[in-house]
This record gives sequence, structure tokens and C-alpha cells, in this order.
Amino acid sequence: MTTFLEDVPASVMDEDPYPIFERLRKEAPVAYYPGTDQWFIARWDDNMRVGTDAENFGPSQWTVAGVGPSVLSASGEQHRWIRKGIDPLLRQRPIHEYAHQHARPLVASYLDQLAPRGEAELTSEFFELISARIVGDVLGLHGIDDETRQRWFLAIADWLNQGSIGNVEVSSELTATLDELDSALEELVAEVTKKPDGTLLSTMVHAVPDGAAPKTYEELAGSIRIIIAGGFQEPGHAAASILYGLLSNPDQYADLVASDGKLVQAAVHEGLRWLPPFSSTERVTLREVEIGGVVLPKNTELCLLIASANYDESRWENPSRYDLHRPMQAHCSFGFGVHMCAGNALGRQMEHILLEELPRRLPNLRLNPDREAKTSGFLMRGVKSLSVLWDA
Ligand code: HEM
Repeated sequence: MTTFLEDVPASVMDEDPYPIFERLRKEAPVAYYPGTDQWFIARWDDNMRVGTDAENFGPSQWTVAGVGPSVLSASGEQHRWIRKGIDPLLRQRPIHEYAHQHARPLVASYLDQLAPRGEAELTSEFFELISARIVGDVLGLHGIDDETRQRWFLAIADWLNQGSIGNVEVSSELTATLDELDSALEELVAEVTKKPDGTLLSTMVHAVPDGAAPKTYEELAGSIRIIIAGGFQEPGHAAASILYGLLSNPDQYADLVASDGKLVQAAVHEGLRWLPPFSSTERVTLREVEIGGVVLPKNTELCLLIASANYDESRWENPSRYDLHRPMQAHCSFGFGVHMCAGNALGRQMEHILLEELPRRLPNLRLNPDREAKTSGFLMRGVKSLSVLWDA
């Protein structure tokens, strides 16, 4: 079945896929996209059904070409054991403690350094750095500076983003970055193998069935790269999106500031719905299945359009508007089912802290009228440039 999607080039998907998503939800909610050889799933109900049904839909393997086998491409027992190494440290309670003892003072000190300037491009000069710092510290990247962490995650995230629109070729620059990352991480993994230290690297290495040897760097490399690419990028880019939503609606930003923290949860929730930083995810059919009236054979690649599901008109009125006062209901920005984001508690906590500290430390925060914000990306979509002013 052919649809208007056949004529949509990758560049349009990267620049602004939202008008395409709107048309898909209306005209062709399950549609083939030749650019990536995937079926796009546009509506909320179909995304939820596919994402939560691990019997009929398994993980896609497309990311293996760039990052290697990982938690994202694993299934069954193998997937469960990787998650056993990741999940305990990232649960609500340990994250709450970590956030208040470590993350909040870090956010405060980074913002206090910026404060005298009165202006900044916040995405690259603050959000990406603080996100890589906080999540990298949980991971256990001792001795790796912020700029290196930022360079690493941007290189992998860029490949994932390009791959999501069909450009899966691995460049020599990415290979060089992965080599550099591997040699640093191999050393850190060797250290925690000998001496467990409570970091995520350490828990990942030692989460094995009784009597089995600790996991090697080679076994964990793909999952570590996914955490670096996604875990470092998403909280930072989500924060940029949330803040952009607020600052482009100054009345709403004023409401947030006046609420003395009471509207922070709503502002974060709405920002994650409005512009999810990881805006699609993939599955593959494990047998012939019917979705939205379309019968798809076994081994069909599916792209779950999180960003489109979050705008489904059957759930949200005027979905393209950022509105922190809209009734809160579940979005799917952290994904689905067994592959649901392992870092969702940490991600949410970081957004809360950032939204609490920003108005306190950068008074009268506003968009810089001379430098327009720039949003791009298909899979890794975000406000990549966010120039702001405040009263120094
Ligand atoms: C606002 C922040 C974040 C957002 C919006 C986000 C979103 C997502 C999404 C959409 C997925 C794919 C789920 C699926 O395929 O159904 C995912 C997977 C994942 N995320 Fe996050 N993420 C965030 C932060 C983090 C952080 C901070 C970490 C790590 C510390 C992390 C670790 C992971 C891991 C390990 C997976 C793979 C899960 C699996 O396949 O089992 N994420 N994330």
C-alpha cells in the first residue's frame, strides 16, 4: 500500500516531522516508509499495543551496526540480566537521594558560574554538560571531563539520529570516537571488576547468574554506549525543550516562577510530551500480525512514533501547544513495556531540579530575541540551540 510518505525525503523528517505525523494520524496511521524500510505507527493506541506486547513484537536490530549488541537490541533472559545490572541503582529511592546530595549542588554550581554572564546558548553551554556530568557520574566515568563526555554522546547520538532516517553508514570519525571511548571504558570496567564501587558500571559488571563470571567490557560495550548516547543526551535536551516551551509562552513561565515549585511537575510532564528527546523507537514483528487493519508479515520493521502518539488528538486537545495547565495524563516519552527507559526516574528528577534552580539563579530568564532557537532531529529531536538572556 503506497501513501504520501513515499515522497517524503529524509531531510524533511529531520527538519520537522510533525506535519507528517499529523497527516499520518488522520490518513495512514500504519504506513510504509521506504526511506528506512519500516512501517510507521502513528496513533497512540497502536503504539501502546505494539510497545507493550513482547509476545508478538521484539526489539529491532538496526542499532547494532553502529553501537553493537545492547540492552536495546536484546530480548528474553539476556535482556533481563542486562536490566538487572542497570535497574536497582536507578530506582526512585536511590535516585532521589543521589539527586539531592549530588545532582542539585552540581546544578547550582554550574548555574552560579554562568550567572554573571547574563546570556548563554543554554543547550550546549549548560544542559548538555550538566546532563553528561550527572548521568556520567552515576555511570562511574571518573576522570573523564565534561567536554569529552559531551563529544562522545553527541557523536553516538548523531549516528543514531542519522540512522533513524536511513543513513546508517558508520563514519571514520565515529569509529575513532568509539575507539577512544572503548579504551577509557575498558580501563574503568577492569577497575570495578576487581573492586566493585557501587557505580552503574560496577552493578552492570556484577549482575550475573550465581557462579557465572562478571561481565566483560566487550559484553557490555553496546549497552554502555546506549547509556552514554541516550542517557546523557535526553535529560539535557528534554530540559532545553521544556524551557523553550515555557519561555516561548512567557505567561506560563511567569506562572511557574510564581507557583514556588508547585507547577514544576506539570511543566516537566508537559515538556516531555510536547517535544520528546527520543522521539521514536523500533520493534520487529515476531509473527504475522494485524495492526490498525494492516496485516504485516513476520520480521517487519516497525517505527513507533512516540512524538506522534503524544499528539494523538483523541487524547490531547490542540496537541502542538505547550500548555502546562492542561490535565496531566500519561505520555509515552519513556517508551514501552520491557524496554521502557531504565533512566526515567533519574531523567525526571533532573528536569525537576533544573526547573527549580533555573529561575532562582538566572533571574528574569527570557529568550534572546536576536538568536532564534533551533530545533532538529528525527530520533534525537531537540532544541539544539537555545539562546537566552537574564539579569546578571
Ligand atoms: C528525559 C530523559 C530520558 C528520556 C525521555 C528517555 C527516553 C527513552 C526511550 C524512549 C527509550 C526507548 C524505550 C523503548 O524502546 O520502548 C529509552 C531507553 C533506555 N534509556 Fe532512556 N531516556 C531518558 C533518560 C535516560 C537516562 C538518564 C538513562 C541512564 C542512566 C537512560 C537509560 C536508558 C536505557 C538503558 C534504555 C534501554 C532500555 C531497554 O532497552 O531495556 N535513559 N529511553
